[in-house]
Amino acid sequence: MTPTTCSPDELRTLFLFEKLDRSQLETLCENGHVELIETGPVYAEGDDATCFYVLISGEMVMSKLSGGEDIEISRTSQPGVYSGAWQAYLGERAAQTYPASARVLVPSRFFVLDADVFGRLVREWFPMAVHLLEGLFFGNQNSRQIMDQRERLLALGSLSAGLTHELNNPAAAAVRATASLRDRVSHMRRKLGMIASGTYDHETMASLIRLQDEAAELVAKAPTLSPMEAADREDELADWFDARGVAGGWDLAPTFVAAGMDVAWLDKVRAGVDDDVLLESAIRWLNYTVETELLMNEIADSTTRVSTLVDAAKQYSQMDRAPYQRADLRELLDSTLVMLGRKIGDLTVVKEYDPALPAIPMYAAELNQVWTNLIDNAVAAMDGAGTLTVRTRREGDTALIQIGDTGPGIDADIRDRIFEPFFTTKPVGQGTGLGLDISWRIVVKKHKGSLRVESEPGATTFEVRIPIEPRD
Ligand SMILES: Nc1ncnc2c1ncn2[C@@H]1O[C@H](COP(=O)(O)OP(=O)(O)O)[C@@H](O)[C@H]1O
Ligand SMILES: [Mg+2]
Repeated sequence: MTPTTCSPDELRTLFLFEKLDRSQLETLCENGHVELIETGPVYAEGDDATCFYVLISGEMVMSKLSGGEDIEISRTSQPGVYSGAWQAYLGERAAQTYPASARVLVPSRFFVLDADVFGRLVREWFPMAVHLLEGLFFGNQNSRQIMDQRERLLALGSLSAGLTHELNNPAAAAVRATASLRDRVSHMRRKLGMIASGTYDHETMASLIRLQDEAAELVAKAPTLSPMEAADREDELADWFDARGVAGGWDLAPTFVAAGMDVAWLDKVRAGVDDDVLLESAIRWLNYTVETELLMNEIADSTTRVSTLVDAAKQYSQMDRAPYQRADLRELLDSTLVMLGRKIGDLTVVKEYDPALPAIPMYAAELNQVWTNLIDNAVAAMDGAGTLTVRTRREGDTALIQIGDTGPGIDADIRDRIFEPFFTTKPVGQGTGLGLDISWRIVVKKHKGSLRVESEPGATTFEVRIPIEPRD
């Protein structure tokens, strides 16, 4: 029969209690008890931390959940080893849940004390030590929060700088195109006045209007020409204008070429007008038509680009959406890529999305921060040239997201450290060393997923796994 009575003399043999005096040991025994725990679980990670445990004899294992798996973190039979509610002296200011799970491998004896009593005794007996521990604990927590905030602001700052620039280009293009359009339209009004004053007969007018409709249609279908092809065609058209005495052919040719018109089409115009004197003003009229069409296309393109960017920014920030809900990974990754468009620059981007992946419950805005950090690192590693791969895949009941780059890779001797807070190999001012730490916490802590890296020179891949259905 294993004794389960508490004896001060036995407690004294445990290293944890070695300097306590007789009356303190007696107090422990009066307030706590010795318990024999059979093989199996003692307490589970995340449960309310109600007891403080000290191993007297036996063998115990501590484990923590990571990526849905229970990972053993220590195994010991050393008497005096303590676990459980050991932070009870910090009171309500710290999370009072078990930070890991404990189980015993053989029937084991523990000295067990209620968390409240343990906390009170430690505060009474070691006030100075408690102050020091509080300083350590809350000091760390505080600086961590401040640094996190800063990292987030830095990331946000660089994203919004990128976005502002991205928005500015198409917006400025639309403004410029609108001004040119106004100018062309006013010219057309004047030309219309001249035409209406009667130089053209009815038939010519009718064919001019037909040609104008045809021109507008051609612009919509204009082929993309290489610079060489375009230059050749411009030469041909300019020669054609010269031969028919149309002044300023060199200025007119590029517009017609951009609209996909060739010598054959100009011959048709010539046939429709049938008068070299009227030809020039017909050509100019058609030129305005083409120019206005091209300008309207440009405005449509730039404004579409603006609204695409705004959509992406909305999607990225998850503005006006609940923080935790089902979301489509493809949309998140795409919006992140758009947001980082400027940073990604001329790198080749390969997207391979698994269409079979369902929408997954998640903190979407926070996961966007993860993609941002991983893509940011990948882009930085490639230094202007290489391939960025963004891939999703279903693996049983988890979704796998891979961000790959063709940069130099991560040296084996630092691979274990890159997830540590403040670890960076970047020059001061460029890296905070928090990107991967924050990503790890979002993926592992918040989504009960995992974050790993595979790396060799020329191929580095960060792998994020998140459960498709949340695990409690
Ligand atoms: N794709 C990558 N290729 C090479 N090294 C990387 C890559 N991603 C991360 N690292 C390394 O990990 C370190 C830590 O990354 P991170 O936590 O994002 O901090 P920071 O980017 O601010 O340095 C980087 O400084 C770099 O040395
Ligand atoms: Mg980083």
